[in-house]
Amino acid sequence: MMKKSFRLSLVFLVSIVVLFELIAVSHGGELRKNFYKKTCPLAEEIVKDITWKRVATNSTLPAKFLRMHFHDCFVRGCDGSVLLDSTANNTAEKEAVPNQSLGGFDVIDEIKRKLEATCPGVVSCADILALAARDSVSFQFNKSMWEVLTGRRDGRISRRQEAADNIPSPNFNFTTLKQSWANKSLTLHDLVVLSGGHTIGVGHCNFFSKRLYNFTGKGDADPSLNAKYAAFLRTQCRSLSDNTTVVPMDPGSVLNFDSHYYTTLKLNRGMFQSDAALMTDTQSRKLVDELVDQGTFFTEFAQSMKRMGAIEVLTGTAGEIRKKCNVVN
Ligand code: HEM
Ligand SMILES: *[C@@H]1O[C@H](CO)[C@@H](O)[C@H](O)[C@H]1NC(C)=O
Ligand SMILES: *[C@@H]1O[C@H](CO)[C@@H](O)[C@H](O)[C@H]1NC(C)=O
Ligand SMILES: *[C@@H]1O[C@H](CO)[C@@H](O)[C@H](O)[C@H]1NC(C)=O
Ligand SMILES: *[C@@H]1O[C@H](CO)[C@@H](O)[C@H](O)[C@H]1NC(C)=O
Ligand SMILES: *[C@@H]1O[C@H](CO)[C@@H](O)[C@H](O)[C@H]1NC(C)=O
Ligand SMILES: *[C@@H]1O[C@H](CO)[C@@H](O)[C@H](O)[C@H]1NC(C)=O
Ligand SMILES: *[C@@H]1O[C@H](CO)[C@@H](O)[C@H](O)[C@H]1NC(C)=O
Ligand SMILES: *[C@@H]1O[C@H](CO)[C@@H](O)[C@H](O)[C@H]1NC(C)=O
Repeated sequence: MMKKSFRLSLVFLVSIVVLFELIAVSHGGELRKNFYKKTCPLAEEIVKDITWKRVATNSTLPAKFLRMHFHDCFVRGCDGSVLLDSTANNTAEKEAVPNQSLGGFDVIDEIKRKLEATCPGVVSCADILALAARDSVSFQFNKSMWEVLTGRRDGRISRRQEAADNIPSPNFNFTTLKQSWANKSLTLHDLVVLSGGHTIGVGHCNFFSKRLYNFTGKGDADPSLNAKYAAFLRTQCRSLSDNTTVVPMDPGSVLNFDSHYYTTLKLNRGMFQSDAALMTDTQSRKLVDELVDQGTFFTEFAQSMKRMGAIEVLTGTAGEIRKKCNVVN
């Protein structure tokens, strides 16, 4: 016969466990390390091999995947919705204005084909994208730069308007940026750290040329932009209507994933208003100072990517495992 006190403590223990599980679930805690260990043991290796093979011949891909993962997570959570094509009835996220320069879809498709041949119907497109973002950036270091938990499932909905509503604009100021991140349960700290993604890649002139030519509508430049740098950018972006020229966001180290982005911010050379905005708040400025240190940046980036990668994820039996990443089953 069980002693009463023992039974009571057992009940207590079980409630504690249940409580912790509830907390874990609400934090995207159903994601875990090596989710495919039993069901598709080679999954992560396959993603890495194909990603590294492609990055080796195309150095623009890390920026493409990092940004694509961000855009995926900010619209309906990290559910691969950014990968879906439009249909006769629906205009997909891909078609939204901030989609400019999204790319690398062909690589995701190649990875998916290989995974479907190896273990059909098992690995989600959302996980492939999260892993490819990590692996593409990691290539230059020949080691994994952050941990990616897996177990995401794929969504079935992708709407252009939701991308327009949820992807932050390069014209955002500090207040609107903070709101947009709070909307995703991310903090000011995550905002400053993940903006460091702009250490690689390029931006189209039309996303910042107002700062060069007509900031307040009087034919003026943004006074918070370094005047010499503004003059240089005007030689690249010849007019307000130039929407084809691209400029490196972190000149001199556009392909290097490093902490140099924060140095450019301190020199008032942040390209978008949303970059410059990080220097307009005391707390944020303090973080920028800390993140100039490369070791600090890498550590913090790894942690914030984990939080971004867990936004509103579908797990368990929610959603589906797509057969092809650009269409729902
Ligand atoms: C803080 C709010 C953010 C805003 C307003 C923003 C805005 C933009 C814009 C306008 C571009 C240029 C796109 C183009 O001209 O084709 C861009 C590029 C990029 N963004 Fe962001 N972004 C933000 C946060 C992030 C985050 C969190 C990441 C990833 C962690 C990220 C990664 C990138 C990358 C890698 C590129 C370069 C893409 C390429 O070279 O094709 N951004 N971003
Ligand atoms: C698209 O619309 C057609 C006709 O209204 C309908 O039969 C079809 O089920 C719709 N497809 C989707 C994916 O909603
Ligand atoms: C981006 O949107 C434009 C305009 O809707 C569309 O023509 C283009 O194909 C889209 N780009 C991608 C990568 O889907
Ligand atoms: C590299 O990848 C990007 C994005 O998919 C693509 O637009 C570009 O054409 C590729 N470059 C080469 C040299 O293959
Ligand atoms: C990359 O790392 C692997 C395993 O750690 C090692 O065997 C290989 O020599 C490294 N390659 C380079 C180019 O450093
Ligand atoms: C930030 O932008 C919002 C929306 O455009 C605007 O209402 C607000 O006044 C701006 N805040 C600052 C401090 O400029
Ligand atoms: C916050 O999220 C809601 C719902 O998705 C959206 O309509 C709104 O525009 C978002 N606000 C910002 C600042 O991103
Ligand atoms: C500059 O902005 C003002 C006010 O928005 C506008 O009236 C003017 O046409 C713009 N100038 C150019 C060259 O676009
Ligand atoms: C770029 O500008 C041209 C001319 O103003 C316009 O026709 C075109 O649609 C624009 N393209 C994009 C991608 O915004």
